Amino acid sequence: VADQPVDGPLGGRHVVITAGPTREALDPVRYLTNHSSGKMGYALADAARQAGARVTLISGPVQLACPAGVARIDVTTAEEMLSATSRAVDEGCDLFVATAAVADYRPAEVAGDKIKKTDGTVSLSMVPNPDILATIAARTDRPFTVGFAAETRDVAAYARDKMARKKLDMIVANDVSQSGLGFNSDQNAVTVFSGEGEARFGPSDKRALAVDLLDYISHTMNA
Ligand code: CTP
Ligand code: CA
Repeated sequence: VADQPVDGPLGGRHVVITAGPTREALDPVRYLTNHSSGKMGYALADAARQAGARVTLISGPVQLACPAGVARIDVTTAEEMLSATSRAVDEGCDLFVATAAVADYRPAEVAGDKIKKTDGTVSLSMVPNPDILATIAARTDRPFTVGFAAETRDVAAYARDKMARKKLDMIVANDVSQSGLGFNSDQNAVTVFSGEGEARFGPSDKRALAVDLLDYISHTMNA
């Protein structure tokens, strides 16, 4: 790629990023999903490329253009996102950033035909999806692994707990109870936890935030 810097803090590194929602089918015409826009992951992919990295962006269905110079792999379900991510990490990966809003559960069965309406209430049986972030963090050849945590309360406690449970190097926590910030928004404010301690970024535009976050991540992983 012509405009790719040859050096930069992530020069020669392979960065893998998950972004956007997943979509879990119920029947041929219906699915379960969430409001993730993918903006934070796409902005981080762009920032990583500008920092000199080769970037693989594993993306759920979003309305965003792929940043120039970034290799995007489109997926739909959590299981597809896990296999595409594992394949990308198999190529050798220095940094993995999980920004995707992965569906925690999927319908236990996908109906082959459209489910018909009947009288009364219905209930849906769901099974857990694989945890992509925890799976990558558990590899013996694990990259520097960064998770995101969107929380509506007790942000710091839940974020630190997720970092420990999933064995992450760093977690980026955002308080999605503040309206207009985080989920499905252009603005974000986050607190980052790692072995280096605690750091706050924003509130700012997701693109500016991504550049600052990527700079902080690359300094921490190179430290
Ligand atoms: N994540 C993932 N695969 C999953 C679920 C989550 O890779 N199946 C990643 C997300 O991309 C994010 C981090 O894990 O980086 C935290 O996601 P979050 O939904 O906040 O955490 P959960 O462990 O699912 O806990 P909960 O939804 O109960 O808060
Ligand atoms: Ca979850």
